[in-house]
Amino acid sequence: MPANKSVLAISGSLRAGSSNHAILRYLGGLAPADFDYVIYDGLAGLAHFDPGLDAGQTPSPVIELRQLLANADAVIICSPEYAFGVPGSLKNLLDWTVGSGSLEGKPLALITASTGGQHAHAALQLILKSALGGNLPADATLLIPFVRTKMDGGGNVVDIETKEALHQVFNVLLTAL
Ligand SMILES: Cc1cc2nc3c(=O)[nH]c(=O)nc-3n(C[C@H](O)[C@H](O)[C@H](O)COP(=O)(O)O)c2cc1C
Repeated sequence: MPANKSVLAISGSLRAGSSNHAILRYLGGLAPADFDYVIYDGLAGLAHFDPGLDAGQTPSPVIELRQLLANADAVIICSPEYAFGVPGSLKNLLDWTVGSGSLEGKPLALITASTGGQHAHAALQLILKSALGGNLPADATLLIPFVRTKMDGGGNVVDIETKEALHQVFNVLLTAL
Protein backbone atom coordinates (compact mmCIF):
# COMPACT_ATOMS: atom_id res chain seq x y z
CA MET A 1 0.00 0.00 0.00
CA PRO A 2 1.44 3.43 -0.88
CA ALA A 3 2.39 5.66 2.05
CA ASN A 4 0.04 8.47 3.00
CA LYS A 5 0.87 11.93 1.69
CA SER A 6 1.87 14.28 4.44
CA VAL A 7 1.32 17.96 5.14
CA LEU A 8 3.30 19.87 7.76
CA ALA A 9 1.53 22.97 9.07
CA ILE A 10 3.53 25.74 10.71
CA SER A 11 2.06 28.62 12.68
CA GLY A 12 3.93 31.90 13.02
CA SER A 13 2.17 32.65 16.31
CA LEU A 14 3.23 31.35 19.70
CA ARG A 15 0.20 32.88 21.42
CA ALA A 16 -2.13 30.63 23.42
CA GLY A 17 -5.51 30.91 21.72
CA SER A 18 -3.89 31.96 18.44
CA SER A 19 -6.16 32.56 15.46
CA ASN A 20 -3.44 31.19 13.20
CA HIS A 21 -3.36 27.94 15.15
CA ALA A 22 -7.13 27.80 14.89
CA ILE A 23 -6.94 28.18 11.12
CA LEU A 24 -4.40 25.37 10.92
CA ARG A 25 -6.66 23.17 13.03
CA TYR A 26 -9.55 23.99 10.72
CA LEU A 27 -7.47 23.02 7.67
CA GLY A 28 -6.53 19.78 9.39
CA GLY A 29 -10.21 18.90 9.43
CA LEU A 30 -10.30 19.26 5.65
CA ALA A 31 -7.43 16.84 5.03
CA PRO A 32 -8.44 13.67 3.16
CA ALA A 33 -8.31 10.44 5.16
CA ASP A 34 -5.20 9.25 3.34
CA PHE A 35 -3.25 12.36 4.32
CA ASP A 36 -1.14 12.78 7.45
CA TYR A 37 -1.61 16.33 8.69
CA VAL A 38 0.72 17.48 11.44
CA ILE A 39 0.92 20.87 13.14
CA TYR A 40 4.52 21.67 14.02
CA ASP A 41 4.94 22.42 17.72
CA GLY A 42 8.65 23.14 17.97
CA LEU A 43 8.79 26.80 17.01
CA ALA A 44 9.48 28.12 20.52
CA GLY A 45 12.29 25.61 21.03
CA LEU A 46 14.44 26.60 18.07
CA ALA A 47 17.72 28.29 18.89
CA HIS A 48 18.41 31.68 17.42
CA PHE A 49 19.75 31.18 13.93
CA ASP A 50 23.53 30.95 13.83
CA PRO A 51 25.03 29.68 10.58
CA GLY A 52 28.22 28.86 12.47
CA LEU A 53 26.42 26.08 14.35
CA ASP A 54 25.73 24.21 11.11
CA ALA A 55 29.39 23.21 10.95
CA GLY A 56 28.95 20.16 13.18
CA GLN A 57 26.89 21.63 16.04
CA THR A 58 23.43 21.87 14.53
CA PRO A 59 20.97 21.96 17.46
CA SER A 60 18.82 18.84 17.64
CA PRO A 61 15.49 20.78 17.36
CA VAL A 62 16.78 22.16 14.06
CA ILE A 63 17.73 18.68 12.87
CA GLU A 64 14.22 17.49 13.81
CA LEU A 65 12.63 20.42 11.99
CA ARG A 66 14.63 19.70 8.84
CA GLN A 67 13.64 16.03 9.05
CA LEU A 68 9.96 16.92 9.36
CA LEU A 69 10.27 19.22 6.36
CA ALA A 70 12.11 16.59 4.34
CA ASN A 71 9.38 14.03 5.09
CA ALA A 72 6.52 16.42 4.28
CA ASP A 73 5.04 16.36 0.80
CA ALA A 74 3.70 19.87 1.34
CA VAL A 75 3.96 22.65 3.89
CA ILE A 76 1.38 25.21 5.01
CA ILE A 77 2.50 28.35 6.77
CA CYS A 78 -0.08 30.46 8.61
CA SER A 79 1.17 33.58 10.30
CA PRO A 80 0.23 36.89 11.80
CA GLU A 81 2.12 40.13 11.15
CA TYR A 82 4.02 41.83 13.94
CA ALA A 83 5.37 45.38 13.68
CA PHE A 84 4.70 45.43 9.93
CA GLY A 85 6.82 42.34 9.41
CA VAL A 86 7.21 38.56 9.70
CA PRO A 87 7.13 37.35 13.34
CA GLY A 88 10.69 36.90 14.52
CA SER A 89 10.16 33.30 15.60
CA LEU A 90 8.90 32.30 12.15
CA LYS A 91 11.67 34.23 10.39
CA ASN A 92 14.12 32.38 12.63
CA LEU A 93 12.68 29.02 11.55
CA LEU A 94 12.89 30.02 7.90
CA ASP A 95 16.49 31.19 8.30
CA TRP A 96 17.40 27.70 9.53
CA THR A 97 16.09 26.26 6.25
CA VAL A 98 18.24 28.40 3.95
CA GLY A 99 21.38 26.30 4.23
CA SER A 100 19.56 22.98 4.27
CA GLY A 101 17.42 23.81 1.24
CA SER A 102 14.52 22.16 3.06
CA LEU A 103 11.84 24.13 1.20
CA GLU A 104 13.48 24.00 -2.23
CA GLY A 105 10.81 22.90 -4.72
CA LYS A 106 8.40 22.00 -1.88
CA PRO A 107 4.70 22.64 -2.57
CA LEU A 108 3.70 25.42 -0.18
CA ALA A 109 0.64 27.34 0.88
CA LEU A 110 0.82 30.65 2.70
CA ILE A 111 -1.92 32.17 4.82
CA THR A 112 -1.37 35.46 6.60
CA ALA A 113 -4.06 36.00 9.20
CA SER A 114 -3.68 39.22 11.07
CA THR A 115 -5.24 42.59 11.75
CA GLY A 116 -3.89 43.89 8.45
CA GLY A 117 -1.05 41.62 7.44
CA GLN A 118 -0.17 42.85 3.96
CA HIS A 119 3.47 43.61 4.81
CA ALA A 120 4.18 40.18 6.28
CA HIS A 121 2.22 38.53 3.48
CA ALA A 122 4.36 40.19 0.81
CA ALA A 123 7.58 39.56 2.73
CA LEU A 124 6.78 35.89 3.28
CA GLN A 125 6.04 35.35 -0.40
CA LEU A 126 9.40 36.88 -1.29
CA ILE A 127 11.22 34.77 1.29
CA LEU A 128 9.47 31.51 0.45
CA LYS A 129 9.80 31.82 -3.31
CA SER A 130 12.92 33.88 -3.96
CA ALA A 131 15.11 33.06 -0.97
CA LEU A 132 14.01 29.48 -0.26
CA GLY A 133 12.92 28.31 -3.72
CA GLY A 134 9.57 26.97 -2.55
CA ASN A 135 6.80 26.05 -4.97
CA LEU A 136 4.18 28.60 -3.90
CA PRO A 137 1.42 28.99 -6.51
CA ALA A 138 -0.25 32.43 -6.44
CA ASP A 139 -3.61 30.82 -5.69
CA ALA A 140 -2.14 28.98 -2.71
CA THR A 141 -1.71 32.30 -0.91
CA LEU A 142 -4.39 33.94 1.19
CA LEU A 143 -4.44 37.14 3.22
CA ILE A 144 -7.06 37.18 5.99
CA PRO A 145 -7.30 40.69 7.46
CA PHE A 146 -9.23 41.43 10.66
CA VAL A 147 -8.84 37.76 11.46
CA ARG A 148 -10.29 37.93 14.95
CA THR A 149 -13.64 39.10 13.53
CA LYS A 150 -13.75 35.85 11.56
CA MET A 151 -13.52 33.61 14.63
CA ASP A 152 -16.00 32.86 17.39
CA GLY A 153 -15.23 33.02 21.10
CA GLY A 154 -14.22 29.37 21.09
CA GLY A 155 -11.48 29.94 18.52
CA ASN A 156 -13.36 28.47 15.59
CA VAL A 157 -13.34 29.91 12.08
CA VAL A 158 -16.94 30.98 11.50
CA ASP A 159 -16.83 33.46 8.61
CA ILE A 160 -18.27 31.71 5.54
CA GLU A 161 -16.13 33.54 2.95
CA THR A 162 -13.00 32.81 4.96
CA LYS A 163 -13.92 29.14 5.19
CA GLU A 164 -14.47 28.98 1.43
CA ALA A 165 -11.16 30.70 0.76
CA LEU A 166 -9.39 28.24 3.08
CA HIS A 167 -10.96 25.28 1.27
CA GLN A 168 -9.76 26.71 -2.02
CA VAL A 169 -6.18 27.25 -0.87
CA PHE A 170 -6.04 23.77 0.62
CA ASN A 171 -7.35 22.20 -2.60
CA VAL A 172 -4.78 24.08 -4.66
CA LEU A 173 -2.06 22.75 -2.40
CA LEU A 174 -3.30 19.18 -2.62
CA THR A 175 -3.45 19.31 -6.42
CA ALA A 176 0.16 20.58 -6.47
CA LEU A 177 1.31 17.25 -4.96
C1 LIG B 1 3.18 43.45 19.48
C2 LIG B 1 2.16 43.29 18.40
C3 LIG B 1 2.36 43.88 17.18
C4 LIG B 1 1.42 43.72 16.17
N1 LIG B 1 1.68 44.29 14.95
C5 LIG B 1 0.81 44.08 13.96
C6 LIG B 1 1.08 44.59 12.65
O1 LIG B 1 2.08 45.25 12.40
N2 LIG B 1 0.20 44.30 11.68
C7 LIG B 1 -0.93 43.56 11.89
O2 LIG B 1 -1.67 43.29 10.94
N3 LIG B 1 -1.22 43.08 13.11
C8 LIG B 1 -0.39 43.33 14.14
N4 LIG B 1 -0.66 42.84 15.38
C9 LIG B 1 -1.93 42.15 15.61
C10 LIG B 1 -1.82 40.65 15.39
O3 LIG B 1 -1.61 40.39 14.06
C11 LIG B 1 -3.08 40.00 15.88
O4 LIG B 1 -3.11 40.11 17.28
C12 LIG B 1 -3.20 38.54 15.45
O5 LIG B 1 -4.45 38.06 15.87
C13 LIG B 1 -2.12 37.69 16.05
O6 LIG B 1 -2.24 36.37 15.55
P1 LIG B 1 -2.67 35.15 16.50
O7 LIG B 1 -4.11 35.39 16.86
O8 LIG B 1 -2.49 33.95 15.65
O9 LIG B 1 -1.77 35.18 17.70
C14 LIG B 1 0.26 42.99 16.40
C15 LIG B 1 0.05 42.39 17.66
C16 LIG B 1 0.99 42.53 18.64
C17 LIG B 1 0.77 41.86 19.97
